[in-house]
Amino acid sequence: MSRISIKNINFSEKKVIVRLDLNLPLKDGQIQDVTRITRIIPTLKTILATNPKYIVILSHLGRPKPKPQTQWDKNDSLEPIASALQELLGHSVIFSNKQIGPDLYQELNTLPNGSVLMAENIRFYSGEEENSNDFSKQLSQLGDMFINDAFSCCHRVHASVVGITKYLPSYAGLCLDKELSVLENILVNPKRPVVGIVAGSKVSTKIDLLLNLLNKLDYLFVGGGMANTLLCAQGYKMGGSFVENDRLGIAEAVLQKAKNSRCELLLPIDAVVAKKLEPNISTQVVSIDMIDADQAMYDIGPKTLERLQNILKLCKTVLWNGPVGVYEVSPFDQGSNIIAKSIAQRTQIGKIISVAGGGDTIAVVGENSADFTYVSTAGGAFLEWLEGKVLPGVEALESINEQKLVP
Ligand code: 3PG
Repeated sequence: MSRISIKNINFSEKKVIVRLDLNLPLKDGQIQDVTRITRIIPTLKTILATNPKYIVILSHLGRPKPKPQTQWDKNDSLEPIASALQELLGHSVIFSNKQIGPDLYQELNTLPNGSVLMAENIRFYSGEEENSNDFSKQLSQLGDMFINDAFSCCHRVHASVVGITKYLPSYAGLCLDKELSVLENILVNPKRPVVGIVAGSKVSTKIDLLLNLLNKLDYLFVGGGMANTLLCAQGYKMGGSFVENDRLGIAEAVLQKAKNSRCELLLPIDAVVAKKLEPNISTQVVSIDMIDADQAMYDIGPKTLERLQNILKLCKTVLWNGPVGVYEVSPFDQGSNIIAKSIAQRTQIGKIISVAGGGDTIAVVGENSADFTYVSTAGGAFLEWLEGKVLPGVEALESINEQKLVP
């Protein structure tokens, strides 16, 4: 059974619970990026168009420790996000810091038809991450149907993602459905050749991803700190660069797998090095076998970029996850910026289908105003999907049907 989309559902008089991912980047209380809001607006508008009794929104923000209501911290509150949603939705959004239970049920039942209410951060409750049956049941009593439109949370076995689906008819929101359809369409049978660009600091956290991609792609370029560990395992001296010395065994497994696969593994051939990681510090470009003991690699060099650009010219699909240098510190953002622009250019002239995902990668694509075919809003969920794992939140939507519901 596949997931059921909300496209043809009549929500008239329904009390609709919607799980969203409104975990937006905040700095000094200011929202830095509203993409996750803009992507879910069509779902809320679709529900509102058929006159529901109300919509109650559940989301988390950050990773606060569960606590009693009297200790809920304002810094972890979804209140500023409710205001931003109200503005972008063009419909009043009531924020409620009432505890989930009788108080909130009562508030919801006194609302005029067509109201939208956002409940406080779901991670204030211990039952959420425990995926407890009691808490899932309490959540289900907020309404009479459940919609999950938080693809980026689907790797979490949490009550508002998985547990609740045992108690209510459950559907896939438009954004979740689109994320999955696009990923499935573009990446399950990709237009070949296909190249993956995967970077990040630790090879140990992306081992499953690398091994799975080596099975599927034609070329895999690895950058960032994880490339340092692979290069070190190949015998290169990486000076003061970040290397996971206790994970060289994992790096060797990746190199071995690459030898036995038809996918070509590409690593940096030159490096932008410096003596310290500081903004605008003086840098040098050196071949990968010429890094001095007092230098560290913080970005890929021009020869590596040229090689990557040539591979991009050969390929019809590209998948990108992770900046290839220390993106937060200029000038070590240059490699990632050039990649973003090169991919966008080839996408615009119809030569390549491009997909990017992961928090930092979304930022690089956004800051370069680079037009990709698709940018996933998800971080961890995107990676787990690419690793070939079944996402529990998606599985819950696919396996649930009304006969299975727990009374
Ligand atoms: C994300 O930002 O990737 C999602 O909101 C999931 O957040 P989490 O990693 O804290 O579960």
